Amino acid sequence: MALKIVRIYPKNRVLAWIEDRLPVLSFVSAHTVTYYAPKNFNIWYLFGALASVVLVNQLVTGIFLAMHFKPSAAEAFSSIEYIMRDVEWGWLIRYMHSTGASLFFIVIYLHMFRALLYGSFKRPRELVWILGMLIYLTLMAEAFLGYVLPWGQMSFWGAKVIISLFGAIPVVGSGLTEWIMGDYLPGDATLNRFFSLHVIALPLVLLLLVTVHILALHEVGSNNPDGIEIGDTLTPDGKPADGIPFHPYYSVEDLLSTAVFLLLAAFAIFFAPTMGGIFLEHDNFTEANPLVTPEHIKPVWYFTPFYAMLRVIPHKLSGVVVMFSAIAVLFALPWLDRSQVRSVRYRGLGYRVALGLFAMAFVVLGFIGAGASTGLIERAAGAAADINGIENWIGRVMVAIYFGFFAFVWIYTRFGLERTRPVPTRTTPHP
Ligand code: HEM
Repeated sequence: MALKIVRIYPKNRVLAWIEDRLPVLSFVSAHTVTYYAPKNFNIWYLFGALASVVLVNQLVTGIFLAMHFKPSAAEAFSSIEYIMRDVEWGWLIRYMHSTGASLFFIVIYLHMFRALLYGSFKRPRELVWILGMLIYLTLMAEAFLGYVLPWGQMSFWGAKVIISLFGAIPVVGSGLTEWIMGDYLPGDATLNRFFSLHVIALPLVLLLLVTVHILALHEVGSNNPDGIEIGDTLTPDGKPADGIPFHPYYSVEDLLSTAVFLLLAAFAIFFAPTMGGIFLEHDNFTEANPLVTPEHIKPVWYFTPFYAMLRVIPHKLSGVVVMFSAIAVLFALPWLDRSQVRSVRYRGLGYRVALGLFAMAFVVLGFIGAGASTGLIERAAGAAADINGIENWIGRVMVAIYFGFFAFVWIYTRFGLERTRPVPTRTTPHP
């Protein structure tokens, strides 16, 4: 169901003049009014629009923060304090940005899980998924760089631990860490380059990727909770029988969900901006000190599932390889899962159970990664850590379940073991 751009001819002479030279309105209309979306979208389909809202929030609040922030190791921490205390509404802008980062990941994780539920990563939407994964990678880099900027204790030590991971790479490792930091420790040079990447380079990449992500989606059309192609059944005038124009039907729905979402976001921003140390860690309200290591070094919650993989695997390089593989394997999902059926509603019991276990493993790893992390520091210092504690063993089982999901799905679908249910030809009314 390729997207058709139908030329429109505005009555207004100025608009018509522009349209003749650059058909902006025709383009916008093709992606909204004449873009037919399945009529059976459910709540899982709100998160793409909400991710766009958070993206705009991050860009706008980020611009205002950059007006007052000083990207130098000597001034960064106090410039944030200045924003919080002296800049008019500075506290609000800063908390909108820092809370926005966590909200971004909540929305994105739900958005990604939806794709696993309804098989949205499958043919013909593999590229939409790949672009989404590139967005996810960029977003992780963007969040990491941003967290370093306030130059608090966790900024400094988090940066040190994460950058030192590159040191595990044989031969080039130590040169690479120095090259990334521009110093032997995270310092002025590090902060300066991280600022530049955080405010210019990665936001540009993100914007570009999101645009292409949506263009790629509109080319093939949206999937839906039944996982069927609405383009397969057309009305006599050639429109999808189970589709409705995105605008006004879904634009209104997205507007409503945005209002509800902003209300919830406002609660977090006004009443719990640090979320008890989850969104902004307590240690980050103390200025960076290279001579004092915080008691527990751990990343913000959205990284903890991957960080846990690093912690529970005793060998440093293996931990790093497993952690990066955990992300890399998601790119391959469209080719690992060979099932012809997309939606979990009609898939075999095996897939349902495996997906449930996979989600559980991710959440448990998140908790383990958020726990005290003395092991990593001890290992970095060359001492033996308690790598056989119960928590670490649970973590290892969860890592096995995480990767087991992909192996299982491949075997299950490649060798015809899945018993699927009949898929309807038309969308079904469903809560
Ligand atoms: C800034 C981040 C992102 C934005 C603004 C964004 C935006 C959108 C929008 C507006 C849609 C259409 C509405 C919807 O289906 O919810 C969509 C669909 C989709 N997105 Fe994203 N997205 C982002 C990140 C991601 C990520 C990280 C992934 C996965 C790795 C992803 C995978 C998908 C898929 C597979 C679809 C098609 C869903 C379907 O038709 O069932 N997106 N995205």
